Amino acid sequence: MPDIESLLKEKRVFKPDPAFTKNANWNKKTVAEYRKLGAKNPERFWAKMAKEHLTWFTPWKKTLQWKPPFAKWFVGGKLNVSYNCLDRHLEGEGAWRKNKAAIIWEGEPGDTRVITYAELHREVCKFANVLKGQGVKKGDRVVLYMPMVPELAIAMLACTRIGAPHSIVFGGFSADALRDRIDDVGAKIVITADGGYRKGAPFPLKKAVDDALANHEVVDRVVVVRRTGQDVSMVEGRDQWWHELMADASPKCAPAKLDAEHPLFILYTSGSTGKPKGILHTTGGYLTQVVTTTKAIFDLKDSDVYWCTADIGWITGHSYVIYGPLACGATTLMYEGVPVHPGPDRWWSLIAKWGVTVFYTAPTAIRTFIRLGDEHPKKHDLSSLRLLGSVGEPINPEAWIWYHKIIGGKKCPIVDTWWQTETGGVMITPLPGAVDTKPGSATLPFPGIDAEVYTEEGDPTKPPGGGLLVVRKPWPGMLRGIWGDPQRFKEQYWSQYKDTYFAGDGAHRDKQGYFWIMGRIDDVMNISGHRIGTMEVESALVSHSSVAEAAVVGRPDDITGTAIVAFVSPTGGTDAGDELKQTLRAHVSKEIGAIARPAEIRFTDALPKTRSGKIMRRLLRDIASGKESKGDTSTLEDFSVLAKLRESDET
Ligand code: WTA
Repeated sequence: MPDIESLLKEKRVFKPDPAFTKNANWNKKTVAEYRKLGAKNPERFWAKMAKEHLTWFTPWKKTLQWKPPFAKWFVGGKLNVSYNCLDRHLEGEGAWRKNKAAIIWEGEPGDTRVITYAELHREVCKFANVLKGQGVKKGDRVVLYMPMVPELAIAMLACTRIGAPHSIVFGGFSADALRDRIDDVGAKIVITADGGYRKGAPFPLKKAVDDALANHEVVDRVVVVRRTGQDVSMVEGRDQWWHELMADASPKCAPAKLDAEHPLFILYTSGSTGKPKGILHTTGGYLTQVVTTTKAIFDLKDSDVYWCTADIGWITGHSYVIYGPLACGATTLMYEGVPVHPGPDRWWSLIAKWGVTVFYTAPTAIRTFIRLGDEHPKKHDLSSLRLLGSVGEPINPEAWIWYHKIIGGKKCPIVDTWWQTETGGVMITPLPGAVDTKPGSATLPFPGIDAEVYTEEGDPTKPPGGGLLVVRKPWPGMLRGIWGDPQRFKEQYWSQYKDTYFAGDGAHRDKQGYFWIMGRIDDVMNISGHRIGTMEVESALVSHSSVAEAAVVGRPDDITGTAIVAFVSPTGGTDAGDELKQTLRAHVSKEIGAIARPAEIRFTDALPKTRSGKIMRRLLRDIASGKESKGDTSTLEDFSVLAKLRESDET
């Protein structure tokens, strides 16, 4: 995480290029007008957006019903997400898009598929019929555990077509993590693939599904996409091949007319307890925010080739690989593999090959590419690019400037977008034709979003100054709850301040009121832009019989932003060797997934605790990052623990 002091020394300002502003979907005048309306009457602003950017079967009666912390947007309105992403681009004024590429897909081995809107519509209708044929009804949850292949997009849209909420589990999660999510969401059916390609080799997925479903009572259907051709075992009566089911499916399926508040998807994310929470998003409000932000922030035009590099297993992939761009009728690029296969220039070769115009990625990737050397992007013609975006973690000014110069050729505006799984869509961001940017700042809230910085006591701060990031008024894409746990929803987000959303991030505002996001202030780490709870890793560690106690903290890392450091007291004493460290790393991978594997494990006899038994994480963070602890240790139970911890060797 960038040090806020160094961020705030950043004085460079980049003004929008007048030529860009002239053609921007939202120019200065539009933005000024929307800011005014959004501040005065956010409901009216969002209602205007919902009407302008979406097609509704039935208009809503009430824009917002707000019984804190429960919001309903566009009450009484009916619509369908797949209709808005597909059908309306095939009829009436949109009909010319029929043969426009909806998805340009490239697999890691270099195989490609270009899917037009008409074709995507056909495939989605067919798979919607397959789902129905498997007994999936409106409201039933469908778990998708897939690689980045077009079938994932097809399956998502098919779910929305029939009103079956999907829950996508990132393919990097382990069988155990998958099973937890399947159980929590109460899925009936799992859609998966034999595997996918990563780093030049096939990786398995079906095997994890088999392990997750061993002796499972509820899930009795699995549909398997053949992607790699690797051997998989098919369970008789439960497992079926995607291509076999699709062969007989009808390409006609009317979109269900769904209530604006019908559940659209549940996506699990880490919180400050051991158990991931299922963030619930619904239909009308989510799509309104996602389509509006896509159009305004990425300035999408019909001539654009847009590429968001996120995996669809994360919220960024949901909102800005699939729903936002397709609702805009845009061409969205999907790439299956890792950025550096077969060489460190794969991404840049993709931009040149497909003529990508708008590119959205994460700071951790940018930092990796800086390290790999400028010669790789310089080998390719990146002149098609006209707009760049960043998401997932604070972008340090050095990375921002490199992105601007080396990738953007100094001519592309950069939109640094702050948002969360919970917010559904972007909340704080530059608007590229209207807002001056400063490297490292997400600038200002989107129109209609009432973001503020509070003191701990709950008073708004006056810029310049820092505090806790909150949102004071409901917004259409906001989470509607935590699946099956309204109490946790209230406690997690709404208990700090009355009727105000608590984001869990620290933020600073400069004199001009620009937001500088400082990162999580809770026990959630941001590893390469992905959220991992310290408690999640701790519970994985203590579930191993050789671990008596464990405490997990993040330390700054040049590439991944944060790296995981685990302090472990082994049951057999601290003499346990490297072998146990390796075993524990592998154990965490098995319990959660490789992204949660600690970068470093340190053995210790005891953990520093307060007299009331709370682990002193601040101290551990200082030790992990090699800083001397300046903080107050007067309540520390045993000072000798500290000294020993500092000595504990690193791996
Ligand atoms: C962090 C990802 C600084 C933040 C969309 C937030 C950011 C968490 C930015 C949400 C940004 C996201 N600048 N920090 N532009 N964007 N974050 O749920 O800490 O995976 O709370 O959503 O990422 O992560 P999530």
